[in-house]
Amino acid sequence: MVAITRNSKVVVLTGAGISAESGIRTFRASDGLWENHAIEDVATPQAWERNPQVVWEFYQGRRRQLREVEPNTAHLALVELEQYLGENFLLITQNVDNLHGRAGSKNLIHMHGELALLRCETCLSVFEMMDDVHLESDYVACQECDNPRLRPHIVWFHEMPFQMPEIYAAVEDCDVFITIGTSGHVYPAAGLIDVAKSCGAHCVGINLDAPVNLQQHDEFHQGKAGELLPNFVTNIIKK
Ligand code: APR
Repeated sequence: MVAITRNSKVVVLTGAGISAESGIRTFRASDGLWENHAIEDVATPQAWERNPQVVWEFYQGRRRQLREVEPNTAHLALVELEQYLGENFLLITQNVDNLHGRAGSKNLIHMHGELALLRCETCLSVFEMMDDVHLESDYVACQECDNPRLRPHIVWFHEMPFQMPEIYAAVEDCDVFITIGTSGHVYPAAGLIDVAKSCGAHCVGINLDAPVNLQQHDEFHQGKAGELLPNFVTNIIKK
C-alpha cells in the first residue's frame, strides 16, 4: 500500500472502466462500444471526411446518453483525493464523457477531448453543445464563421492527444502514478506509466482485469473502481 501524504505529488490516469458503473460501455469489453462499430468507421479523420453522417450520429448518440448517466462513487472518491492534495493532484482522463467534471474534479485534463464540445475546422473555435436543439439537429453550424458543420472535439485515431507537454511534465514530476479503469492498449496514454516509473514514481493500478501493462505497476488492486476507490482514498486521507 503506497504512502501518500498531503505533500505527495499524485497523477491519476483514468479510462473507460471508471465510467462503467455509471452505465457507459467501455471500448474493449465483449459488449464494448467498439462492438457495433469499426473504429475506422467512426473514430478517424478519414471516416469524418468519407461519411460524416455516420460519425456525427455515433457521437450524437453518445452525447445524448450523457443526460441519462451520473458520476459514480469512483468519480466522487477522486474529488475527495483532489480536495486532500490540492495543487499536488492532477487527473488525466482518456474519457470523453463529462462525469469527472460533473463529480467536481477541477485539476482535470481530457487528453482525448470531450463529447460535450464541438470544434470548427475552419476557425478552430470550440463550443459547448449540449442543449436539446443541438442534440437533435443534423449538423451544428459554427457561431464564429460560415462553416455549416462543426466536428466533434474528440481526438480520433492518428490524431495527437491534447496537452501532452503539460501531461509529460506532471508525470515526470510525480511521486505516485495511479491508473484506474484502463486496459493499457492505446498510446501515448498507455506509455505514461513507463515515463512515471523511469522518473521514480510509485505506480498503482486499479482495474477490473489485469491491464496489458500490468508488469509496470508496483501494486495492483483488481476489482471495480466504484468498490475499491472509496476505501483506497479513505485509507490515504485518514492516516
Ligand atoms: N472498474 C474498474 N475497471 C473496469 C470496470 C470497473 N467497473 N469495468 C471495466 N473495467 C476495466 C476493464 O477491465 C478494461 O481493462 O476498464 C478497462 C477499459 O478498457 P478499454 O475498454 O480498453 O478502455 P480504455 O483503456 O479507456 O481505452 C483507451 O482507447 O478506444 C480508445 O479513445 C478510446 O480513450 C479510449 C482509449
